[in-house]
Amino acid sequence: MLLAYGGGSVKRNGVYDELTGILKAEGKTVTEFTGIMSNPTCAKVREGAKLARESNIDFILAVGGGSVIDCCKIVSAQAKLDDDIWDYEYAQRKIPAEFIPMGAVVTAFGTGAEMNNGAVIIYQEKKLKSALWGAFYDFAVLDPEYTMSMPMRQVISGAFDTLSHCMETYFGSPKEDNLSDEINEAVMRDVIRNIRATLKNPEDKFARSELVWASAMGENGVLKIGEATDFQRHMMERQLGAYTDCNHGMGLSALHTAYYRYIVAKGADKFAKFAERVWGIDPSGKNEMELANAGIDALAAFIKEIGMPSNFRELGIPADLPWKEIADSVTLTPGGYGHLTHEDVLKIFEACK
Ligand code: NZQ
Ligand code: ZN
Repeated sequence: MLLAYGGGSVKRNGVYDELTGILKAEGKTVTEFTGIMSNPTCAKVREGAKLARESNIDFILAVGGGSVIDCCKIVSAQAKLDDDIWDYEYAQRKIPAEFIPMGAVVTAFGTGAEMNNGAVIIYQEKKLKSALWGAFYDFAVLDPEYTMSMPMRQVISGAFDTLSHCMETYFGSPKEDNLSDEINEAVMRDVIRNIRATLKNPEDKFARSELVWASAMGENGVLKIGEATDFQRHMMERQLGAYTDCNHGMGLSALHTAYYRYIVAKGADKFAKFAERVWGIDPSGKNEMELANAGIDALAAFIKEIGMPSNFRELGIPADLPWKEIADSVTLTPGGYGHLTHEDVLKIFEACK
């Protein structure tokens, strides 16, 4: 079997010793695939697939966060495929059907990557960070204990990613009250409450277990039942990531306020619900637009309160990037209220500086 992990946190926090002990006791032959970087690349996928083929791997155990989990999804498919998987999916428009079975041990939460079969991979030569479709995990271990050693910046960034998945699902359609959205509102309130609890006490295991569970809920498909989702901001963040290698959750937070202020007029009714039901804002004396804006103000204040970047300067990326080229490379999504053009994307990038 292939034991896959990232840059070494698993060795520092004891997870590696625990897992290799169990695997040894079970008599498994283990090949290691190491050094999977944050924001995994096509080159790393090819390295893993080559290793898997050469070592006749029949099972992959991914131990890490979204990056390790995503990389292994595509390794599992690429190892069974003669064509290059990027070409297979994007040029030939085919989806792989054969995979090496996999399990995941989640050590960094937020992406919910263990719950779906999409993976986000950087193709450096093409300057793209895009989705590839791989395998679903046969099982995922979500033990909050394994996440307790995460640096606090990554804990908050991961939790913000979860909140972002919820919001990007919520600000789609239908706008009418529905079960998926009402579950979503509960998940959002839970994430906000438990980010605050975690900042107050980083050792709070109850708060951590709530955040890990919410992370899985964000991407396990339940909130998306019957929904056409937005995910435009994720598309924008991906291309920011392709050009700057920025942290995923932090890239998202830097984009949020400007994006929502840009589209709010087209979805004021839903933003007003968000204000009242998620942030607990009293609607009395406010018209729909005022209430909608108060919800976005609450989100903006929360981003500052939890120390996440509110703009590109705080994200620490250079100001002189080729913004038009980046904007033009962003995939446009049909489900959100904005129905953005590439010119709109550029304007939002400008507003984030
Ligand atoms: O590499 P190591 O040394 O393990 O360190 C990692 C890494 O530096 C560290 N870490 C992980 N567990 C730890 C720990 N440090 C201490 N103790 C632990 N227990 O955390 C750092 C970040 O890890 P990473 O996996 O990169 O973060 P995250 O989970 O946020 O994943 C980000 C990737 O997931 C993609 C993003 O685009 C990005 O590439 N996403 C995947 C999604 C999906 N498949 O559904 C959805 C998301 O929207 C997202 O796009
Ligand atoms: Zn995300």
